[in-house]
Amino acid sequence: MTIDKVILAYSGGLDTSVCVRYLQKLHNLDVITLTVDCGQDEEITNLERKAISLGAVKHIHIDAKEEFATNYISPSIRANGLYQGKYPLATALARPLIASKLVDLAHQEGAKTVAHGCTGKGNDQIRFDVTIRSLDPNLKIVAPIRDMNLTRDIELKFAKEENIPITLDAKKFSIDSNYWGRAVEGGSLEDSYAEPPDDLFHFVKLNDTVPVYLEIEYEKGLPIGLNETKMNLVSIIHILNNIVGSSGVGIIDHIEDRVVGVKSREIYEAPAAIAIIESHKDLEKLVLTNHQYRFKQMVDEQWAWLVYSGLWQEPLRKDLEKFIESSQRKVKGKVRLRIHRGSIRVVGRESPYSIYKESLATYDAGSTFDQNLAKGFSELWGLQSIIANSIFESKYQ
Ligand code: ARG
Repeated sequence: MTIDKVILAYSGGLDTSVCVRYLQKLHNLDVITLTVDCGQDEEITNLERKAISLGAVKHIHIDAKEEFATNYISPSIRANGLYQGKYPLATALARPLIASKLVDLAHQEGAKTVAHGCTGKGNDQIRFDVTIRSLDPNLKIVAPIRDMNLTRDIELKFAKEENIPITLDAKKFSIDSNYWGRAVEGGSLEDSYAEPPDDLFHFVKLNDTVPVYLEIEYEKGLPIGLNETKMNLVSIIHILNNIVGSSGVGIIDHIEDRVVGVKSREIYEAPAAIAIIESHKDLEKLVLTNHQYRFKQMVDEQWAWLVYSGLWQEPLRKDLEKFIESSQRKVKGKVRLRIHRGSIRVVGRESPYSIYKESLATYDAGSTFDQNLAKGFSELWGLQSIIANSIFESKYQ
């Protein structure tokens, strides 16, 4: 009798390591582990050895760093992708990419089943499930941690019994990382009032002294150079993670609404994402009209919500991106940032398409702005509000 195969998305962490054993033991499947490299900062070189020693029949490694930059991070930069105004979506963007590789490999290997190590409490399960089903509705999805309602305690106990090596950090927290950001949840962070320990951070250093100036150059809404040197996006992000993080910038600590209704306390480290989104937004304000910018903020918000909530495959995302792309034709120029002791500030911006006109804005002599026009304008602008107040609002507070 031949044993069926399963392709497991494998990171080498607690959840997915435990899954290798469960899939073998309980589901009686040959496990092929797949690691998709999106620039995670954990040890990734020994994963093959680890997977095989756990009992996987084969391990596949895919370097997806470039693809992640081109097809996932780039649209997110253009959309100023932040969930609830804070979270740069690092995990949310990587999941549909990993899921698509799972489906490809299942087809190559003739496997009827794919598996992931997500719990039933988070967003990641939705991102995997929806993407996999959109790409191939016939694949069976197994999620052992969710299916068995496992808690981290039970997993840790099982890992110990089965001699599965787990790092110290993984014992304390649930961590997910790629080069767009690092997410840490659980453990002592579940107390929403407890400050995260300083040694939790990998990129962000909390003791710099000298201010650093950076200049990011944009074209069509994407970074194309740093400090006068042209570079690809992957290099720009890596360099920014180091420089910006070394100045203490990049930590996000917030309460987040998960899709499944739970509020969770999240700690993120995303120095490059913060610097890029901050400067990108600033440049947009220089070149877009007020009307374009206000409308785009709504589109950006909707885009981030679709991505966060696992609907990468939703057709509306592509529709929104058509608008976003069109808006980015003018997003070209340079933004200068000052980064010092945990703060980041745009200190200058310029663009060949700037619609900021000094001659209109100036309060000094030489202004081309005719103040006489403003008198009539302000009267008309407030017309309805003034009438409404006179007949109703002021009488019925
Ligand atoms: N809350 C974030 C999100 O939903 C981060 C999830 C991180 N995943 C993890 N296994 N620690 O995207």
